[in-house]
Amino acid sequence: MNDDFTTTVRFAGLGRFLPEKILTNSDLEKIVETSDEWITTRTGIKERRMVADGEALVDLVVRAGAAALEDAGVAPDEVDMMIVATATPEQPIPASAAIAQPRMGLVNAVCFDISAACSGFTFAVNVARQFIATGSARNVLVVGAECLTRYCDWTDRKTCVLFGDGAGAALLQPAPAGEGILQIDWRTDGNFSDLICMPGGGSRIPPNSHESIDQGHPFIKMKGNETFKVAVRAMTELSKVILERAGIGPDEIDLFFPHQANQRIIQAVGKRLGLTDQQVFSNVAYVGNTSAASIPMAMADAVEQGRLKRGDLVLATAFGGGLTWGSMLFRF
Ligand code: UT7
Repeated sequence: MNDDFTTTVRFAGLGRFLPEKILTNSDLEKIVETSDEWITTRTGIKERRMVADGEALVDLVVRAGAAALEDAGVAPDEVDMMIVATATPEQPIPASAAIAQPRMGLVNAVCFDISAACSGFTFAVNVARQFIATGSARNVLVVGAECLTRYCDWTDRKTCVLFGDGAGAALLQPAPAGEGILQIDWRTDGNFSDLICMPGGGSRIPPNSHESIDQGHPFIKMKGNETFKVAVRAMTELSKVILERAGIGPDEIDLFFPHQANQRIIQAVGKRLGLTDQQVFSNVAYVGNTSAASIPMAMADAVEQGRLKRGDLVLATAFGGGLTWGSMLFRF
């Protein structure tokens, strides 16, 4: 899907929130048969955050969203729409965005969730962009948030070492042509929906059924090897498509934000796109894979570290369950 970019959209503010509790690789050594050495060399992850007892998704959404509003200098009552991208909502009904709304004072905002797993943030940005481009919204808050540790199978070393909790948020506003988002594109391929999934907890295998609990269905399951290969290929190819459409070469990119799933994937995609290590941002070592929160948290981190500056030309790409993937090119 390609569209006309007469009105663009910019990231006017960014925010992130990480739960306090840290789960290190050595903590995991006590839970499953693994080692810091294996996790570090195969994934690049050293630690991840974990929600505490009594803490849940909306607590993260509220904190990251408020930080993005403050960064943009936008008052809560000026927000027209909030989209929460998550695969791990606070509860099935209502949407996490609706639960968060009164706590954030978003009195004039329509609020809803979208589900596109790790690509959720790029998908939500693209949805927000349509409303801003048509003039029906001016201030749209997009939050990527996950409590993945609540859905980890702590007996499955192939998955439980990967995921972490957190939230990242961006306040989107209209921008003059040539600024903000220059290209964005997205894809879905449901033929491979079994590569990353959680079969239980929905209407096929309800969460309250014995089958769901007894057969371990309400946990994240992933075919790691296959996912790895498809993730690298998909993020690379779609990023090449949008770079070509924009007439931008790899040397013109100031900073690249690939989905923070695994350091080896991050490096492989960067290399295939012809980018240097300096152009590729990574924070997977201390947050792990935070799915929909991954890219906005990385962007907020990069600003904090002084690596992402206003005016920079930025490429971002995500890949996740669905399968879904998305890429965007923007002038920050
Ligand atoms: O967010 C959505 C996108 N997600 C991704 O893109 C993730 C993609 N996949 C990956 O990142 C990697 O495939 C993993 C990190 C999940 C796994 O790395 P791998 O290099 O593909 O390892 P593997 O699954 O091929 O396993 C190699 C060996 C196996 O042992 P055997 O069968 O060779 O004896 C595993 O049992 O490593 C073993 N292993 C572990 N050993 C210690 C798997 N997990 C662990 C572990 N600790 N945590």
